[in-house]
Amino acid sequence: MIRIENLTKSFGEQEVLRGVSLQVNSGEFVALVGMSGSGKSLLLRHLVRLMRPDSGRVLVDGRDVGKMPRYELEALRSRVGYVFQSGALFDSINVFDNVAFPLREKTRLSETVIRQKVMEELDQVGLKDVEHKYPAELSGGMLKRVALARTLVRAPEIILFDEPTTGLDPIVVNSILNLFDSVHKRLKLTGILVSHEIPEIFGIVQKIAMLHEGVIAAVETPENIHHSQNPVIAQFVAGKPDGPIRYR
Ligand SMILES: Nc1ncnc2c1ncn2[C@@H]1O[C@H](COP(=O)(O)OP(=O)(O)O)[C@@H](O)[C@H]1O
Ligand SMILES: [Mg+2]
Repeated sequence: MIRIENLTKSFGEQEVLRGVSLQVNSGEFVALVGMSGSGKSLLLRHLVRLMRPDSGRVLVDGRDVGKMPRYELEALRSRVGYVFQSGALFDSINVFDNVAFPLREKTRLSETVIRQKVMEELDQVGLKDVEHKYPAELSGGMLKRVALARTLVRAPEIILFDEPTTGLDPIVVNSILNLFDSVHKRLKLTGILVSHEIPEIFGIVQKIAMLHEGVIAAVETPENIHHSQNPVIAQFVAGKPDGPIRYR
């Protein structure tokens, strides 16, 4: 379980996070939505201590991430799969080597076992006969699948997706979201998915949390979100220009 308690973070005069609290139960998939620049990526970075808060804390399974000794932090990071917005594959090595990279780097598995795991993972994300290709030879959707395979190959228990479908066409978006859904159900992962794919994400998450003006302004279930009384949620879901959300 992930528990974020009253997290604050400022940069100079700019207060980005002003007391964020959010709980993600084990096995739950939560969508984190909010305006661009609201601090979604920043919040995710705190979960694996790539960023430290000014105040507040993050607990993972009851342990304070900010107070973990180095070895415990490393153990936590190995349990967390982080899929960055860019996908960031290595351009100069092929798909196989990209997916094998975390295993070669962080484990002592034999090449035979690595080969088996990599091929299995590529198969799971629906990629066949691409292991010898280079990133430049793949489409946007395929690159996202490779990035997902590379994250899953280490069998994470917690997965953080930061806008994994931004910039893809609608059909590919749906195929990637379906893939997340099946991965989530198969592996019973706990996850946070930052996404602008509304309403598509509503079908694959248990809760939607909206980050607005530095706090979680609302947490709703997908069933309730369309009837939300919260004006921030209502405006965001409807994509209306007028309301409490102001463009700066
Ligand atoms: N390391 C940093 N140094 C200074 N400002 C930062 C840093 N990280 C994030 N910010 C600022 O925090 C705000 C939120 O950024 P971000 O989390 O990337 O937003 P989002 O992911 O919701 O679009 C932005 O104004 C950004 O400039
Ligand atoms: Mg971001």
